[in-house]
Amino acid sequence: MEEQRRLYYLEKMGIQTWVTRTSQSEAIPTVPDQELRSVQATPLTHLDASCGTSSAAGLDELRNVVAACTLCALHQGRTQTVFGTGNPHADWLVVGEAPGFEEDRSGEPFVGRAGQLLTKMLRAINLAREEVFIANILKCRPPDNRDPQPQEIGHCLSYLRQQIDLIQPKIILAMGRIAAQTLLDTHTAIGRLRGREHYYADTRIPVIVTYHPAYLLRSPQQKRKAWEDLQLAVRIRESCE
Ligand code: URA
Repeated sequence: MEEQRRLYYLEKMGIQTWVTRTSQSEAIPTVPDQELRSVQATPLTHLDASCGTSSAAGLDELRNVVAACTLCALHQGRTQTVFGTGNPHADWLVVGEAPGFEEDRSGEPFVGRAGQLLTKMLRAINLAREEVFIANILKCRPPDNRDPQPQEIGHCLSYLRQQIDLIQPKIILAMGRIAAQTLLDTHTAIGRLRGREHYYADTRIPVIVTYHPAYLLRSPQQKRKAWEDLQLAVRIRESCE
């Protein structure tokens, strides 16, 4: 990556440029927690990625299924579902929590202030929004942006699992506690999940956990740790190429 560009986006993220790229201040165990490996993906209910459906067509079909979803009460308050957006063949899948006000209006994930910071975070590791796929745990906005409830996640999770099955990403970036705990099927605190490599369900798809951009807007002093997480994700991605 060109140094100038990297520094530019780091500054945009609000990270002072004295932060070293190679900081190894936190131990990075590579062996995943046993506790975190127990989750099993449920079989696809609507689509089967293995039967020749291309990921783009499969995602379009799934998008229509999601748009008609009434499995939980959140459908009553939505303007529209927010399925996810980006490259259907992306190596990087970015997973957030749930749509907010602006996402509910626009139908696109991460378009508000947090989304703008996410875009800068991606740029800092030389990724454009269009080359990754961005999705959320929930496809409908919870009222007043409250935390997703377990039963809502329970209903919606199958859609994300199908997205993962169709996209077959090489790495998943879990943004924030809800995304991390859901993807890893754990109640472990985010502070203990970040800074190391996990795996999605029974696959070898690495999951890297970092702080949610909305949290980083409230707590900018944590951006340095988020930057370390992004660097870790890049190292892991590069080591698999
Ligand atoms: N926060 C999220 O987790 N997802 C969005 O799409 C927007 C804000």
